[in-house]
Amino acid sequence: MPKTSISQILNSQQVGEIVSLEGWVRTFRSKRFIALNDGSCQSSIQCVVEYADFEEEFLKRITTGSCISLTGNIVASKGQGQSIEVEVKELNVLGDCSSDLYPIQPKRHSLEFLREKAHLRLRTNTFSAVMRIRHTTSFAVHEFFNEKGFFNLHTPIITSSDAEGAGELFKVTTLPLENVPKDDSGDVNFDSDFFGKSTNLTVSGQLEGELGALALGKVYTFGPTFRAENSNTTRHLSEFWMIEPEMAFHDLNDNMDLAQDLCKFIIDQVLKKSKEDLNFLDDRLAQEEKNKPKEQRNSMGLIEKLKFVSHNNFIRCSYSEAIEILMKSKPNKKGKFKFPISKWGVDLQSEHERFLVEKHFKSPVILFDYPANIKAFYMRLNDDGKTVRAMDVLFPGIGEIAGGSQREERYDILVEKMKAVGINPDHLDWYLDTRKFGSCIHSGFGLGFERMVQFVTGMSNIRDVIPFPRTPGNADF
Ligand code: 4AD
Ligand code: MG
Repeated sequence: MPKTSISQILNSQQVGEIVSLEGWVRTFRSKRFIALNDGSCQSSIQCVVEYADFEEEFLKRITTGSCISLTGNIVASKGQGQSIEVEVKELNVLGDCSSDLYPIQPKRHSLEFLREKAHLRLRTNTFSAVMRIRHTTSFAVHEFFNEKGFFNLHTPIITSSDAEGAGELFKVTTLPLENVPKDDSGDVNFDSDFFGKSTNLTVSGQLEGELGALALGKVYTFGPTFRAENSNTTRHLSEFWMIEPEMAFHDLNDNMDLAQDLCKFIIDQVLKKSKEDLNFLDDRLAQEEKNKPKEQRNSMGLIEKLKFVSHNNFIRCSYSEAIEILMKSKPNKKGKFKFPISKWGVDLQSEHERFLVEKHFKSPVILFDYPANIKAFYMRLNDDGKTVRAMDVLFPGIGEIAGGSQREERYDILVEKMKAVGINPDHLDWYLDTRKFGSCIHSGFGLGFERMVQFVTGMSNIRDVIPFPRTPGNADF
């Protein structure tokens, strides 16, 4: 018999058909009603067992978490809560589950508890919904770029450069840690290391992405990214996924348009394709909100918020305007910011970004034209000589979801900017070559994939939108 998934059966509702199913038991009620889930969708299907047809000892093995296969007829349900159910004719236990030890019981577990059981948490309603939406989000990214004529470029994971110049790198080495070779001045000698030089896991595929854009026109990368920063926040992972488009002949305005279009497209696809999971998460969030004090509650539900963002353009505001707004703001005047804003030139903290988005504009915001000295060396210098063509996309509840810029395409200025921040131009001669051989205006940005998944699922902690999170002190599973 051909294999059918529960999602297919619930969609087609063919009463009278005989089906074979495999899955995990969510609950077994009154020795009669099995709620069976196979992961294909949020809903479980009710499978009704005629008690007299099976041995009592055998039915004891049907417990929460056990894996079973069954064959039966689809019939119109006599009970409430579902329109069809399966009348079980054959039943097999594929994998027993010792119910007294199984941590995932049919009740509400805290997200903190489930993080400790990350190897099993995907079997819960919440995490399976999040993972299916993560898939929809990932698929939407590829669909968006493919339809716009971008090419997916696979950039290296092991590199010898530090694209962001921030120095938060995970080393990659095969040197013996118990006896590291040193040179005359006492520094590590990488000559005998695997690649003959010092290497690390990539913090961004951008620099290689630029090489692609200056040959293929429009490219995007979508890969794992690694940062050894000691940030224990609800927005940071040590291993996360980033989407980095890079486009020749695009200036900063084109870049902002593309970032907005991408975000909206992803949200629309999730609204369209993940209805059942979204409804579940919407209810879940509404429950959570009820338990919060009134003044901390979000004014919008999850689906309402997604529709709002997808139907409205993002506000564009320069860094200088934002500083004016922040300086005059109530929380700044009343000393409510942990980092008060007193002058132009300071870096914005997430409290400032969230004030702008959630309180002032009440909309996603793209900030642009930041001071040169708080941004990376590769961003294009404006004619004022002190700001760069940078942009950050800020989302409600998330803060920065994407960051990018028009790139500095002028060789001399780029070399000068590298030297100013202590980067030896010789180490990036391959990158500089693009500025020597047919340089052109180009732009790009990086969208944090998990931050986007957080936004579309409403999950408040980034550790709950990636199957197996890596954070400082945590690389289990
Ligand atoms: O702002 P970032 O550091 O920018 C870059 O890496 C550029 N090279 C991108 C480019 O222009 N091609 O990172 C981009 C985005 C952030 O806006 C954020 O959404 C996400 O990546 N991000 C993280 N997400 C999870 N955990 C972390 N530790 C993150 N660091 C950045
Ligand atoms: Mg950034």
